[in-house]
Order: sequence, then C-alpha cells, then structure tokens
Amino acid sequence: MTTANEIAELRARALAEIVAVTSDDTLQAWRVKYLGRRGLVSEASRGLGSLPPESRREVGQAVNAAMQALNAAFEQRKAALEQAAAEAGGALDVTLPGRPVALGQVHPTTRALRDILQVFDSLGFRVVEGPEVEWDRYNFELLNIPADHPARDMWDTYWIDDPVNPGKMLLRTHTSPNQARVMERTEPPVRVVVPGRCYRYEAVDATHETMFYQVEGLAVDVGVTMADLKGTLTAFAQALFGAERRVLFYCSYFPFVEPGVEVAIDCFKCKGEGCRLCKFTGWIEIMGAGMVHPKVLADVGYDPSTYSGFAFGLGPERVALLKYGIDDIRLFYANDLRFLRQVK
Ligand code: DAH
Repeated sequence: MTTANEIAELRARALAEIVAVTSDDTLQAWRVKYLGRRGLVSEASRGLGSLPPESRREVGQAVNAAMQALNAAFEQRKAALEQAAAEAGGALDVTLPGRPVALGQVHPTTRALRDILQVFDSLGFRVVEGPEVEWDRYNFELLNIPADHPARDMWDTYWIDDPVNPGKMLLRTHTSPNQARVMERTEPPVRVVVPGRCYRYEAVDATHETMFYQVEGLAVDVGVTMADLKGTLTAFAQALFGAERRVLFYCSYFPFVEPGVEVAIDCFKCKGEGCRLCKFTGWIEIMGAGMVHPKVLADVGYDPSTYSGFAFGLGPERVALLKYGIDDIRLFYANDLRFLRQVK
C-alpha cells in the first residue's frame, strides 16, 4: 500500500534527478520513467482504489500534486534545454535562405518618360509642367482652335461642370496648352519639354485610353526653321530607337502649326519589309509636330516676323508599347502586378 509519504519521496527523487538531465533523450527517458502510463507515479496510484476512504483522499491529493509538480518541472527543463541549444547556435541555421524582400519596380510609362526626357535634356530642353485641369483658353483658344472650330472634334473632351465658369474648364486633352503657358511667361529663346497626363472621352480599346501621358516640346527663337525641327526630331528618334533609324516627315494638320507634320521611323522589327507592327507600311508613326503657327506666337505677344519655332507632341505609352513590345495600352493602368513585373 502506498502512503502519502512515499509519494512525496518519489516526487523528491524525480525532481532531484531532472536537475541532472542535459539532453533531449534523457529528458524523454525521465518522463517515461515517472510520468508515463506505466511510470512510477501511475504505479504508485494504482492501489488507490483499495485504500480506506480517509487515506484515499490524502494519497490521491499527493498523487495529483506530484503529477502537477513533475509536469511543470518537465516543461521547465525542456524550455531550458531549448534555450541552451539556441544560445549554442543549434536552433539558428545561418545557412537557411533569407526572406525575400519585395522590391518595387519602375512603371513602364515612367521608364519611357525618363528615356524621352533624358534625350531632350541632352539636346538642351528644360523640363516644365502644367496643370491637368485646364482652361478652354489654353487647351484650345490660344492654340488657334476657336469655339465651334471643326478641329475640336480631334479631341473628345471631358468638360468640368463649374457653375462659376460654365463651359470654360476641362481636363486637358493634350499637353499643347503649355506652349502658350510657357511663352506667356518667358521671353524667347524658349526650349522646353512638358510631360504630363492627358484625358480624353474615348471608347477604350487596345490603342486608346481615357487617361494617358504626352510629352510636349517647344523651341522658339530667331531664325528657327523646319530644318531645326527635322534635325532635332531625327536625333531624338535615333537616340531612342537606334542610330540606324530612318526618319520620315509627312504632311499632316494640327491647327497650331503650319506646316504640320507626322513623324515616323522605319520599322525596326521588319526593317521596312512590312509586318503587323508597322501595319505593313514599313513605317511607324511616333509623333505629331510642326512649325508654330504665327497666330499662336502673336496671341502670346511674340512678334511672328521676328520669331519662329517648332513644336511636337508624343505619347510615352506608345514609345513603351514599341520599345518593350507591349500590345495593349489598357495594361498600363490596370495595376496588374503580373504585367508590371514582366516589363523589364
Ligand atoms: N497635341 C497634339 C495631339 O494631342 C499632338 C501635337 C501635334 C503636338 C503637333 C504638337 C504638334 O506640338 O506640333 O494630338
């Protein structure tokens, strides 16, 4: 028959023994020996049922207390061993790979903008910016596009419903309003490029978005000619698309230039043979340009008999589509990381 004293002795022995335990193996062996299903504590409590009720209670309590004390001692010892192992370097495996750091990446539009602006910077153009919410006056009037002029159809416009200025405020449809804005506050010579967001009320498809960027260019001085336009834009096209590019200028119409041109490069994919990229023409259109219209100069207070200039406008998304082989402009602002991570 087991007595409460014997249980207390057993408990003391177990606690003395665990102090000497220094490895996982011996710790597990200790547990089996004392706390296991056939361990010494279970053994000692086996005869409980046959004890007289007075001592059954006393011995039962001693057994429970011993169980608790030994379990606590086990957990404590286990934690101490783990801690010791960690301190000894056992739990820290310095050869494990680190956690990947999520790195951001420059957006394709930003990349194209940087490439474009860097070229014009090297050609002596200063970078300036203008407002996205614009007056009709700058977006149209001062660009020789009066109200009701049929050329307004070229720009499907988001008008801003401003009760104080009804029909006067809009989201700029191009960066060209900055031609007038810059000339108004600057004496010639002028040489600027203006990057920025533009907005158009478009039916969205693979080549049309309601929001997109443009880079406007303007150079005005005494004696600026079409040859300067051609030289500058040829240098630009070759810097961006390859020194071997041929550049084509052909007639086009924009109300704020005269003459107006469209600029194209020979297709770098098929080398002019004809492919899908160049729509089987051998040429890829990259921007609009022209000699600043005398009326535009006069309206900002420049004397058109003294000064002349050229202007151009191009789309960085289009540059990115061509340079990085993207086939849908809608991808640019859909914020799909699978696309954004792919453009390298
Ligand atoms: N602003 C024109 C557009 O959005 C592009 C353009 C054409 C700009 C000719 C110019 C230019 O400065 O000379 O369609």
